[in-house]
Amino acid sequence: SLYRKAHYQGSAYTLSQLPPDKGMEVAFAGRSNVGKSSAINTITGIGGLARTSKTPGRTQMINFFQLDARRYLVDLPGYGYAKVPEAVKQQWQQTLSAYLEQRRALCGIVLVVDIRRLYQPFDLQMLAWCRSRELPVRILLTKSDKLKRGAANQALQKATAHLQEVLPTARVQLFSAVNRMGVEAIQAQLGGWFGL
Ligand code: GTP
Ligand code: MG
Repeated sequence: SLYRKAHYQGSAYTLSQLPPDKGMEVAFAGRSNVGKSSAINTITGIGGLARTSKTPGRTQMINFFQLDARRYLVDLPGYGYAKVPEAVKQQWQQTLSAYLEQRRALCGIVLVVDIRRLYQPFDLQMLAWCRSRELPVRILLTKSDKLKRGAANQALQKATAHLQEVLPTARVQLFSAVNRMGVEAIQAQLGGWFGL
């Protein structure tokens, strides 16, 4: 499969450290500790590929994972982690927004959202930005294992309805890194974006 040979390729703190802007990449965005890195590990089936942690702020750089000669997954630092110094935070935010605005290889965004905390201000900001850049976005309602099936479906409906007002072209799905719910669906979306 596409993920069989996935491996860590490198990290960037600053724009100048980014790998060359070629090929295709899909970036995982979302609030701190929401489960971005866990989603990458679950989707690729490679535990420990992206570092995960119970402590928010684990991912502090833009991390690149190579799938094949021209396709990458990108693990972005979580937004909203309060415990880093203000100067560091500003540096990340600048790097992150420049990456999102300028990166030509970027062909899709996976916005990871905690199913129990739908659409926080950062999520809406990301959606507005994806809309203005006309970048395809897939929303993962993650940690769906934390809710019973009925409640999870209710959250999915609510998330879908709200999206109609914000970004109707985006798609939402349930996801869980614990019971692997929704893995095939997001893999199919990634395949589509990657032209497979
Ligand atoms: P930062 O890099 O700090 O922004 O965090 P992150 O968004 O990469 O989150 P990470 O994948 O490190 O996961 C954070 C915590 O949530 C860890 O304790 C994970 O085990 C847990 N977690 C992630 N996904 C799920 C899920 O689907 N279900 C449950 N129950 N826990 C999850
Ligand atoms: Mg992370």
